[in-house]
Formats: sequence, C-alpha cells, structure tokens
Amino acid sequence: MTETIIDSFKQAGQNHLFKYFQSLTHQQQESFLDQLSTIDDPIHLISTVKQALNFSSSNGTKSFSPLPKAQTASTLELDDHLRTTWFDSGLEAISNNEVGVLLMAGGQGTRLGSNDPKGCYNIGLPSGKCLFEIQAEKILKIQQLAGTKHGKECLIQWYIMTSKPTRESTEQYFKSHDYFGMKESQITFFNQGTLPCFNLDGSKILMEDTSKICESPDGNGGLYKALELNGLIKDFETKGIKHLHMYCVDNILVKVADPLFIGFAIDKKLLLGTKAVRKRDACESVGLIVMNEQLQKPCVIEYSEISQELANKKDPHDESKLYLRAANIVNHYYSVELLKQMVPEWIKSQDHLPFHIAKKKITSLNDEGLVVKPSEPNGIKLEQFIFDVFTSIELSKFGCLEVDRASEFSPLKNSVAAANDNPLTCKRDYLTLGTNWVVKNGGIVNGLVEVRGLTSYNGEGLEFVKGKTFNDGDII
Ligand code: UD1
Repeated sequence: MTETIIDSFKQAGQNHLFKYFQSLTHQQQESFLDQLSTIDDPIHLISTVKQALNFSSSNGTKSFSPLPKAQTASTLELDDHLRTTWFDSGLEAISNNEVGVLLMAGGQGTRLGSNDPKGCYNIGLPSGKCLFEIQAEKILKIQQLAGTKHGKECLIQWYIMTSKPTRESTEQYFKSHDYFGMKESQITFFNQGTLPCFNLDGSKILMEDTSKICESPDGNGGLYKALELNGLIKDFETKGIKHLHMYCVDNILVKVADPLFIGFAIDKKLLLGTKAVRKRDACESVGLIVMNEQLQKPCVIEYSEISQELANKKDPHDESKLYLRAANIVNHYYSVELLKQMVPEWIKSQDHLPFHIAKKKITSLNDEGLVVKPSEPNGIKLEQFIFDVFTSIELSKFGCLEVDRASEFSPLKNSVAAANDNPLTCKRDYLTLGTNWVVKNGGIVNGLVEVRGLTSYNGEGLEFVKGKTFNDGDII
C-alpha cells in the first residue's frame, strides 16, 4: 500500500515529496501517506492543473450575450399581482417545510484581513450583531411569517458549508451564541474538501513542511462534492425539502430563504435560478450572468477571467449601459430534483467543474528544506467555481431574477482601506435599508436606525413606528 501510494506520486513527477520521508517518524510517515491517499490519481491531477492553466485564458475565444428575456425577470419592474403570487407561493413552500437554506462559509476572507470566519465579523452595527446572527434572525422571521399565515409551525433547515480553516471556529461561535435562537437540530455543518497547492508552472505539489503537502479549500464549487460525500442530498429528500436557497456568507443584505425568489422558481418550473444586480461599473469585481452563444446555455464569466474589452463593451441599444451587466451575487435556487440527478455527474468530471487557478503567496518548503513565507506569489491554488455547472442546465429550466442592489446586495469583501464592499459600506447599506422602511411607515428618524431581522424581514410589520421619533443608532 505504502509503495503504491509513493510510486503513484513518483510516476507523476513528484519525487521531491519523499526527499525527507526516511527521516520522518513512523507516525509522521503514516499521516503523510494518509494525506496523500486522499488524491486518487496523481497523474490525472497534474494533467488537470495543466488544463486549468489553459482554461484561465480560454474565455477570449467564446461569444457571450445577455440571457434571453424569457429567462429573466426583474423585481424592479414586477407588477404587484405577480409579486404577491410569487411571494405567497414561496411562503407556502416554507410553511410545508419544503425549503432548505444552504450557506457557503468556507472562504478564508483573506481580502478582509480577518483571521476569524467572515460570518463572525462585527461590522459595527448598533446591536453588534455579526453576519451569522443577522442571517439566523432572517430565517427565524420568515419561518414565523410562514407559520402564522398557514397556521402551523415550520422549520427551515440551515446547511452551513465550512472548510478546514473555518469549521471549528464557526461551530464554536454558533454554540457559544446558543445558535442565535434557532434549534440546534435545524443546523447542519459540513466541510468542503481541499486540493493541493502547486508551484507556479503547475508541475510540482508544494510542501507545507517535510511531512505535509500544502492544501487549500477547493473553492465554492466544492459544494457539490461536499453535498454528495456528506449524504446531504439524501437528507434533503428524507426531510421533504424540495427547494434550496443557496447564498454567500458575506452579503449583509441577503434575504435568506426569500419567498419571492422561491416562488419565481416554482412558477417558472426552474431547476436552477440565480439572482443578479446591475453591475456598478466595468471594473466591479463581480462575475456576469450571461449566455454562452455556442452552447446556447447559461453561464457566468468570472471577473478574473473577462477581457477588458468585453467588460467595457456598451449596450448597442443604450450606450449609457454596459452590454453585459447582470452581476452575479452568488445567490441561487436549486431544485432538489436537479441536485439528485446531476450532482453525481457534475463531480465526476472536469467538464462540469474545471479547476481555476489563483496565483498566491504560499508559505512552503523551499529546495533547501526551509519553510519560507514568500513576498511575491510563488504558487497556484486550485478552485472550483459553483456556477460552472450552469452550462449543463437547459436554458428553459434556468432563470435569472434581477433584484434591487440597495435592498439585496452589499458584500463584505475588503478591509476599510478599500473604497467599496468593506465593513463601513456594509453597515451603511444595512442601516439605510432599515431606516428607509421606518420612514416609509411614517417614523421620524434623526440619522440611521437598525431594524432587527426579528422585527421585519423585508419592511413589513413596521406600522407601529408611525409618528414615533427615533435617534441615530436606535435599534428597532
Ligand atoms: C464571488 C463570485 C463572483 C461574484 C461575487 C459576488 C465565485 C467563484 N465568484 O466572487 O462571481 O460576483 O462573489 O460577491 O463564486 N467560499 C467557500 N469556499 C471556498 C471559497 C469561497 O465557501 O473555497 C465562499 C465564501 O465563503 C463566500 C463565497 O464563496 O461566501 C464567495 O467567495 P469569494 O471568494 O468571496 O468570491 P469572490 O471572489 O468575491
């Protein structure tokens, strides 16, 4: 067994991994081999890294256009009747316990510069609430609204994807905050996988020390493999969950389990749906939801892989707008039926979930056997992207709902040193939304107030503020 593992890596040109093997203790050797044995086929892995290096530059040869109108809708232009119909249908599904929520919280938040999981980050709201708590309150509130309307108690299951670096602290945080008032049994933590890190030309796996290879989380596309390996698709079925709302931990305005979005997907009989906002400008670091013209299938062009020319291209019918402007906010609807049918296929091959590469500074062992923290990128991390499976969905079964940025998207990506998407802009956007609801309901506000998720999900139930005065920093 030991020889087979070592041989398979040597045949893949990875002799350097065993330079110190003989000097390791027996226990170190065992754990090193355990780590290596999680990689089934090293030769195949090395060749996929080569593919990944090529893939990053391959978008230039494809043609993209906006999604056809039939596959899109916009909450900015929705008539009241449809809005109510979709919302009610989503709420009914929630009341029947048919809606589950999937949170992606495996990212390491390097741009934010915090060592804690992003969900625990305190952005300085008057209540001091972190992103996890804000999201938990939204779930509790929408459960309550659905339960009250349909006269039954309902529970939304919350599935939280973490990674090796974020798992322990995330789980501990939830525990120490009593699961923010949710039932412990409503919450399932599960881990995404890892992938080895490589040197810059992709030929050699980097070592963390003499007895370990460097690994990093496999990207948010690792979700699908993690769902399968953790038996979660079966769990959805056992619990009667038919619809899933998936979102990213970093969006402070996320409408968790949004009934309107679920209702939109149910009405249009979608297998997969996604929300989008209007792209702020050509430079915004967001992917674009588009149609791949060759395939006539939906897809996302990631911001790191789009040409300047395409990013800047203007709409030929309206020069004031970008041609491709449906910004991806990583907020999806999945039918459980789709996951059941497609996940086994998606995770089988690189065709559906190719590796993307990111050049990074990776602390690793150098040729002299010393662990070095580089000042320049010295290696490659591999990542799968959650949206790469979009091209396997029939266009007619895919839908994109445009939503209002000010109500639904303000991500925590950067530290305060950046102009956008930082703790200050998140705080401002969250408080502004709540304040606008209060003012709309006849409240008088001096400054900005915080409306708790438990008070209102989306501006409803605030009639009691009419004629009352609130001061900056009040919590309602
Ligand atoms: C992502 C999208 C981008 C979109 C933008 C909007 C991808 C690949 N790109 O970019 O198209 O416009 O968000 O905000 O999705 N995560 C994991 N595990 C990982 C890596 C990430 O769970 O290994 C999670 C993060 O915790 C986060 C989400 O995925 O919730 C997005 O990850 P992030 O790295 O912040 O993506 P962006 O580069 O901002």
